[in-house]
Amino acid sequence: MRYGHFDDERREYVIDRPDTPLPWINYLGTEDYFGIVSNTAGGYSFYRDARLRRLTRYRYNNAPFDLGGRYLYVRDDATGDYWSPSWQPTRGSLDEYECRHGLSYTRIASARNGIRAETLYFVPVGETLEVWRARVTNERDTAAELSLFSSVEFCLWDAQDDATNFQRNFSTGQVEVADGVIYHKTEYRERRDHFAYFACSEPLAGFDTQRDTFLGAYRGWDEPAAVERGAAFDSVAHGWAPIGSHHVRLALAPGETREVIFVLGYAENPRAEKFDPPGSETLNKRHVRPVIEHWLRPETVAAGFAALGEYWDRLLGCLRVTTPDADTDRMVNVWNAYQCVVTFNMSRSTSFYESGIGRGMGFRDSNQDLLGFVHMTPGRARQRILDIAATQMSTGGAYHQYQPLTKRGNNDIGDGFNDDPLWLVLGVSAYLKETGDETILDQPVPFDNAPGSEEPLYEHLRRSLQYTQDRLGPHGLPLIGRADWNDCLNLNCFSDTPGEPFQITENVSGGTAESVFIAGQFVLAAKELAAIAELRGLDGEAAEYRAAAEKMTGVIIEHGWDGAWFRRAYDFHGRPIGSSEDDEGQIFIEPQGICVLGGVGLDDGLAAQALRSVAERLATPHGIVLQQPAYSSYRIELGEISSYPPGYKENAGIFCHTNPWIMIAEAMVGNGDRAFDYYRRLNPSVREAISELHRCEPYVYAQMIAGRDAPTHGEAKNSWLTGTAAWNFVAITQWILGLRPELTGLRVDPVLPASWPGFQATRVFRGATYEITVRKPAGAAGRVAYLLVDGERVDGTTVPAAAAGTVVRVEAVIEG
Ligand code: BGC
Ligand code: NOJ
Repeated sequence: MRYGHFDDERREYVIDRPDTPLPWINYLGTEDYFGIVSNTAGGYSFYRDARLRRLTRYRYNNAPFDLGGRYLYVRDDATGDYWSPSWQPTRGSLDEYECRHGLSYTRIASARNGIRAETLYFVPVGETLEVWRARVTNERDTAAELSLFSSVEFCLWDAQDDATNFQRNFSTGQVEVADGVIYHKTEYRERRDHFAYFACSEPLAGFDTQRDTFLGAYRGWDEPAAVERGAAFDSVAHGWAPIGSHHVRLALAPGETREVIFVLGYAENPRAEKFDPPGSETLNKRHVRPVIEHWLRPETVAAGFAALGEYWDRLLGCLRVTTPDADTDRMVNVWNAYQCVVTFNMSRSTSFYESGIGRGMGFRDSNQDLLGFVHMTPGRARQRILDIAATQMSTGGAYHQYQPLTKRGNNDIGDGFNDDPLWLVLGVSAYLKETGDETILDQPVPFDNAPGSEEPLYEHLRRSLQYTQDRLGPHGLPLIGRADWNDCLNLNCFSDTPGEPFQITENVSGGTAESVFIAGQFVLAAKELAAIAELRGLDGEAAEYRAAAEKMTGVIIEHGWDGAWFRRAYDFHGRPIGSSEDDEGQIFIEPQGICVLGGVGLDDGLAAQALRSVAERLATPHGIVLQQPAYSSYRIELGEISSYPPGYKENAGIFCHTNPWIMIAEAMVGNGDRAFDYYRRLNPSVREAISELHRCEPYVYAQMIAGRDAPTHGEAKNSWLTGTAAWNFVAITQWILGLRPELTGLRVDPVLPASWPGFQATRVFRGATYEITVRKPAGAAGRVAYLLVDGERVDGTTVPAAAAGTVVRVEAVIEG
């Protein structure tokens, strides 16, 4: 069952009923000012940091869910009937409803009793504000006397404090209302130089800024007293809960449409110019007033919206494909790329499942997010790499996360995740392959942000590898530390006390638990760094890295091979995990993926054998589960993984992030059919048809789909912010379609499903545009036999980088 459809032409997902199984979310903002917006206008906004600079309030885990938003109310003043044109929060019946989620904008349109209201929400590129453009149309054949009310509830900036510190916060709220603009200025009088404003293009009939006056005692957002009675109270908030609400009266002739623009924004004043007149307590509005006036004009809004479309044309224009599969095209050309950008911007901070309070930018996560983004805006990827690397410690170790506002690393969610440093090598390598910009390697970057500790980025990469090599366990495999990629495999924790964080607690010491995953990741990273060293003419060093990769490969085969698949780890007591020696958790997906990505087992058949085991034991119609059999009870020596009921999350859920590793591995062994089959099992557009089961948005990947051991097998959770986005993008574009940036040029080496006759693509690479056609006899498998580059036959499958600005025609021929 579907709740909408894709409008491919307009790059929109169109939701045609408001009561989706879960709120279906979109994101506003491209640079500093961001927000989430649901299909019923729920959501919130923030400036840069969802925790520390939150503009509006949102109530997570509420009932009904998704409350707090950018709500309008329309009231028919002749009858007193009122409703929310976005359905929430009044949830009154609508004769028509449609939500179009587009690229960084959302448009919600509905009609009731002949009154149509359509609202476009977006954040103009380069601005720290959001625009709500409401169009109200009278479709009746009689005149209509209407009221339009806006509403937002301000958050008192620090979202964590806002949600908990009521003894203070109920007394600090402050606003000013001047010329119809509502200024939210809580704490501005003392140490904050920033404020929010909420403005309206029309003359006001009234306003409200005190929540409980606007709503009335014991009332909710579904029946505000001001809306019900048809007149605002002109309340001015002192303490309690400041809100912003404008009341506009609209007299519409039959057929008439009126446009009303609301602008919600964030601004800062220089400290010395905070007040006007100086010495007063009155907010200085001189700097912000012109911005407000500008954005309240319809022509500015129209131009700003067009510019947003161009912004996305430019990003998405970097890679476009035309394949025989519409679900692939739609995801690669629009939605998966879009999700990669959003995930890169948000890391794991803000979604319907991530509160914006819990996690900052992850070291491991951000490096992987970059893989799906670097081809679109390499300059931002470069900056991100330098920010991440600056949080690395001189030991090579990493903070697990940092806050975007301060860019400082912290251990709030644990430290010593021994896979972390290696992701930096993989992130930098992806950047170099895409851009060829070797200067980044010489860029001085501090350790732990300490001035004076700067070393070239290249040195950071060296230390990343060294970090692993300095921490080997009894079998010669890397020590796992707190955990590796799988945060929930906590082998040194042993927690028996409620509430202890699995990633922070360590109740045993001297742990020698080892990770086969990190071993495979080390092999991959060491080979990548060897290639980078060669690029720099450091052949001796390159040889050392290759030797280290070789040696680790040997250790994996000796101690990490279980007979038909790669083992996962050795626990604190030296017992194998992910082994047929155990009765549960016999086979895990992660090492089958990462070891093959590192090249382990490619020349001796082990890789193909491991992948056969995955197909036999882990694959389901909804994707590949993380391990089998699921842990049926809590195992203190394994930690959080066994805390989940079977089939969820890391305990045998389909942890989607890992699936593309298997797709890539299948492509590496030449199995295009299986790689693509796995790709389609997760593809959200394919799963659209089972939306009632999948429940999450059909246009983006979710972190997890319940595994076969769960009663809800096939149900997705945690949509949007997940490494699944970047890795699926890499799997389909670089390995299945085979358009793979390499240090020496653009590789064209697809591993396609046999039935395909080929495909076409346009890829911008290092400033040149490659028009690529891949031809293949339908029904045949096989790899590229030769390339024609501008008509000239080229050996191998790599197209050398062409001069920026040129157009290169590439034909890849698969003979079958
Ligand atoms: C989740 C992991 C997540 C971790 C973050 C765990 O509860 O299962 O997926 O990475 O929390 O700390
Ligand atoms: C989500 C985390 O963000 C990611 O870093 C981790 O690898 C996975 N969970 C698996 O535990």
